[in-house]
Amino acid sequence: MTIMLMNKKMLVTLGLMSVVVLGAMTSTTPKPADEGWKNLKVLPKSITKDQLHEVMEEWEHSLGVHCNFCHVRDEAAKQMDWASDAKPEKGMARDMFKMMDKINDKYFHAKKDSLGMVLKAGVNCNTCHRGTAHPEVTVPAGRGPGGPPPGGPGMPPPPGTGPAGQSGPPPAGTPAPDKKE
Ligand code: HEC
Ligand code: HEC
Repeated sequence: MTIMLMNKKMLVTLGLMSVVVLGAMTSTTPKPADEGWKNLKVLPKSITKDQLHEVMEEWEHSLGVHCNFCHVRDEAAKQMDWASDAKPEKGMARDMFKMMDKINDKYFHAKKDSLGMVLKAGVNCNTCHRGTAHPEVTVPAGRGPGGPPPGGPGMPPPPGTGPAGQSGPPPAGTPAPDKKE
C-alpha cells in the first residue's frame, strides 16, 4: 500500500519533470524559422529576420540606394509594404539574384549554406554595381570591336592596324579629347 502510494507520487513527479524537460527542449531547439514572410520567391522562406536584413542591406550598399528603390510605401497604412511587387526594380533584383546564383553555382562551383543559399564564391552584386544602380556598360578602349579608334583623332594609326577600311569609320566624327593639360 505505501509502496503503491510512493509509486504514484513518483509517477506524478516524473510526469511533471518531463513536462519541464520537454518545455525546455522545445524552447532551446532551433525551430525552423518562420518569420511569416509573405512574398519570397528567390530567398529561402526559412530565412531569419537578421539574415534577410543582411541581404537587403548588402543590396542597398551595392547599388547605392535605399529600401524604397525597390519597395513601395502603403500610403493608406502609412507604412512600407515590403511584400508588394509594385516596383519593377524589385523584379529586376530577383532576376539579378538568380543570375548571380547561377554564375556562382555553375561557374565558380560555389557551396551552399545551411539555408540552401549559394555562397558568393565569385560574383556578388557589388562586383558589377560598385555602389551604383546603373552600372555603365563600357567597352575597353583600344582595338576591340566597337571601341574607339586606336590612337585617337588626329593621330596616325599605329602600325599594324590592318588594311584601310577594315577598322571601321575614320576618326573624324569622334569628339576631340580635352586638350587643356
Ligand atoms: C535592390 C532592391 C531591394 C532593395 C534596395 C531592398 N530590397 Fe527588400 N526585397 C527585395 C526583393 C527582390 C525581395 C523579395 C525577395 C524574394 O523574392 O525572395 C525583398 C524582400 C523584402 C522583405 C520581405 C517581404 C515579404 O514578406 O515577402 C522585407 C521585409 C524587405 N525586403 C525589407 C527591406 C529593407 C528593410 C530594405 C532596406 C534596408 C530593403 N528591403 C531593400 C529587393 C530589395
Ligand atoms: C554581372 C554583372 C551584374 C551583377 C552581378 C548584378 N548586376 Fe544588377 N545590373 C547589372 C547591369 C549591367 C544592369 C543594367 C543597368 C541599366 O540598365 O541601367 C543592372 C541593373 C540592375 C537593377 C535595375 C536598376 C534600375 O534602375 O532599373 C537592379 C535593381 C539590380 N541590377 C540589382 C542587382 C542586385 C540586387 C544584384 C545582386 C543580387 C545585382 N544587380 C547583380 C549588372 C549586374
